Amino acid sequence: MASKKERILVTGGTGYIGSHTVVELQQAGYPVVIIDDLSNSNIDVLDGIERITGIRPDFVEASCTDIEALSKLFADYPDIRGIINFAASKAVGESMQKPILYYRNNLNTLMNLLELMTPNNVKGIVFSSSCTVYGEPDVNPVTEQSPIKKATSPYGNTKQISEEIITDVINAGAPFKSIILRYFNPVGAHPSAEIGELPNGVPQNLIPYVTQTAIGIRKELSVFGNDYNTPDGYCIRDFINVVDLAKAHVIAVERMLTDKSDAKIEIFNLGTGNGLSVKELLDSFERATGVKVPYKVVGRRAGDIEKVWADPSYANNVLGWKAETPIDDTMRSAWAWQKKLRERGIM
Ligand code: UD1
Repeated sequence: MASKKERILVTGGTGYIGSHTVVELQQAGYPVVIIDDLSNSNIDVLDGIERITGIRPDFVEASCTDIEALSKLFADYPDIRGIINFAASKAVGESMQKPILYYRNNLNTLMNLLELMTPNNVKGIVFSSSCTVYGEPDVNPVTEQSPIKKATSPYGNTKQISEEIITDVINAGAPFKSIILRYFNPVGAHPSAEIGELPNGVPQNLIPYVTQTAIGIRKELSVFGNDYNTPDGYCIRDFINVVDLAKAHVIAVERMLTDKSDAKIEIFNLGTGNGLSVKELLDSFERATGVKVPYKVVGRRAGDIEKVWADPSYANNVLGWKAETPIDDTMRSAWAWQKKLRERGIM
């Protein structure tokens, strides 16, 4: 099917959120080229994307910190008009140990892309930011106007600095637009179970640890603290379905490329608006799958936020987007993905 839509470069497109977004872009008719260095993902993700959409996205294996490789990519694909930048290191704990890796990867990637956009006539960039910019909020839910708190990790700091870099570049008159998306906690997998979250090594995030424990790869889940100042004592997060999240990117890309707004830079919270405790999430997993996850409560994890959830009304009203998937369905999708990995002998 010949597509009239403009080509989108998806950096980090074989990663967790990236791969789900590539599926939604292709299903909306956008031709895609992915660049990924496979540092935290696997080339087989392309097979999953192809099985869902019937289209194998073009793929370049390289790091976006390599400006030569990026320049060559733009020369090979002169029709790129939009970028979604997912390529980044994202483990909070690791960033405390290896700050230079985080600053180099996350900031050089962004600066290389911004630098190459103008000479290559790219009209807009969507940037993956995070609710981490709000730190421990004084008031929940947080809106886009809630105060930015001092980052508690180099990872979080790269997101704050990245937002500032984009703002400075646009204010300096760059001839392109940007939409900054602040994600809350993305969870779940594609309903087809063809793609999902598959971190290399021991999972740092909650849900992959839960599903790997449920299937017997890990003995038990350590829950980091139940003595927080919350109704049940567990941390509270805004868990958002990854496909719902991916769909917001297609809307953002279209908004930039068709000049739906005059604003050169816009920021949106992407969350459900519901705070759920870690315990409530485990209850949902058990209810949805019938599988009980062995866990023990251990001490708090350094740097954890007690509670944060989104006020997504700006994204709801302006983008016409809403996260709608019920949490139990999302948990079922995460479990189906884990079982699929077992079936295929991957984990
Ligand atoms: C963190 C970052 C977020 C980032 C995301 C990407 C902060 C405050 N948050 O989210 O910005 O985008 O990582 O990786 O910087 N938990 C357990 N046991 C586990 C794992 C997690 O109890 O084995 C708990 C945590 O204590 C937390 C909740 O589950 O309360 C969610 O943790 P996680 O999935 O790691 O995400 P965040 O820390 O919220």
